[in-house]
Amino acid sequence: MPKDKREILVTSALPYANGELHLGHMLEQIQTDIWVRYQKLIGNECTYVCADDAHGTPIMLRAEELGIDPESLISDVYDNHLRDSKGFLIDHDNYHSTHSDENKYFSELIFERCKEKGYILEKEIDQLFDIEKQIFLSDRYVKGICPSCRAKDQYGDNCEVCGKTYLATDLIDPISTLSDTIPEVKKSLHLFFALSQLNNEAKSWFKSSKVQKQALNKLNEWIDDLRDWDISRDAPYFGFEIPNYPNKYFYVWLDAPIGYLASHKNFLSEDTEEFSKYWNEDTTTELYHFIGKDIIYFHALFFPALLLKANFRQPTGVFAHGFLTIDGEKMSKSKGTFILADTYLKHLDPQFIRYYFSTKLTEGIEDIDLNLEDFIQKTNSDLVGKYINLASRSSNFITKYFNGRLSEIDENHELLQLSRKASEKIFIHYENREFSKATKEIMLLADKTNQYFDNNKPWEEIKKDNNSLLAHEVCSVTLLMFKNISIFLSPILPNIFKESQGFLNLKNLSWADLDLDLSGHTINEYSPLITRIEKESISRIIEDSKE
Ligand code: 2FM
Ligand code: ZN
Repeated sequence: MPKDKREILVTSALPYANGELHLGHMLEQIQTDIWVRYQKLIGNECTYVCADDAHGTPIMLRAEELGIDPESLISDVYDNHLRDSKGFLIDHDNYHSTHSDENKYFSELIFERCKEKGYILEKEIDQLFDIEKQIFLSDRYVKGICPSCRAKDQYGDNCEVCGKTYLATDLIDPISTLSDTIPEVKKSLHLFFALSQLNNEAKSWFKSSKVQKQALNKLNEWIDDLRDWDISRDAPYFGFEIPNYPNKYFYVWLDAPIGYLASHKNFLSEDTEEFSKYWNEDTTTELYHFIGKDIIYFHALFFPALLLKANFRQPTGVFAHGFLTIDGEKMSKSKGTFILADTYLKHLDPQFIRYYFSTKLTEGIEDIDLNLEDFIQKTNSDLVGKYINLASRSSNFITKYFNGRLSEIDENHELLQLSRKASEKIFIHYENREFSKATKEIMLLADKTNQYFDNNKPWEEIKKDNNSLLAHEVCSVTLLMFKNISIFLSPILPNIFKESQGFLNLKNLSWADLDLDLSGHTINEYSPLITRIEKESISRIIEDSKE
């Protein structure tokens, strides 16, 4: 029997615990948060979990550089990340860390189950070793001459000049970027997940799942050439030691996605039944991962494969988005466009950028450009000029001439019918992550309502007659439309929604209240809900972001 309520678990990618969140992170969290808020608004059960991605060499080295323990670094970063997410009104149901008991438990469990089935292989491999630092070097910490085109200064995994991929041990004249010394080749035992042996069922989970077309193309390319995946790293490493393999640690990318389970488990605490309901193989719940397009491989191949072999459910869908550019370019520290979440929040309301990103977000993986001029212009004209204007211009008359009481309103009023029709489209656009189409549809309603107000000129009617029925009706219908538009925009503008409800003297509005009759309802006095973005705020953000 179909359930009346969908049960959905949603994640966004876990930010690394060695740096601050920037607008690129916020783009993803905002996209996820809007989708989750929409699901809740229409009455589905939806849980949003996330965490810090706390393991790996960069975090270990960063802590060393700062002269502190990695634990203390990740704890400080955790606090900052949480503060910034909250600042952008991201409503995580739980925000955890991959450096947690739950994550250790699930990483070991998944590893053991895969091992029992023969999917963990031991292989001795050659690795570059920094003798001075006494550490095996990952590809990003070695540079040398490309073995293929002989370009200088190339990293240990692939050449930025000719595009060839190779092994770090193939680099000519390799140098450790950690100590500027010549590394030696040393043998080491590594553990591999036998991705190349995956059966067709595991290989093609994504064919039956919600995966974007562009991602599917990539996956189809990769699937024909699957290599076993190196899941271990040698000490020193900041992570979980692998059971029965002293001095070997789980590679950060193994325990990172398992962090989704860990965060959910932490959220549910002792409620094991609820956890099983979401993670058992035979689940009827849905699981979606919002991620950047650069980590599709991990989410659409490795993670589902691990889950499958460990007898857990697989994701229902993986939703990738493009990168954020600012004024058409990569974010740049020297240009002041590498904007930290915290810097933005010092100068502007998070809802402005939540709205602007929405006007750009689609279901695809194209990059999203934050054009600063357009940002000012669009937010001021849409939010202040079209949307909030509906409340300020009509409430004035209602308060002054009609004791705050709305008139009788005909439920078949042309605008209300329009709103009903639009609601079906908006509903689908949100569901499909076509926020740009949703906001367009919503602004069309605001335009139509403003036109209706302008055409009927209540300010003139009131001048002629203090009790003008027409003026009363026009302002009342306008406010009813304001209520509906506020509901439509609520996943994007949660604070304005809260304040609008206060002003409308209504509580807990949801999608079901689009048809709420407000005839004779009394509203509260209006006070400004937002003010325009000034150019100076943007200049200050850029100034503060410069190196
Ligand atoms: O790319 C990144 O920033 C990773 N920290 C994302 C991890 S997502 C998940 F797999 F944990
Ligand atoms: Zn090359």
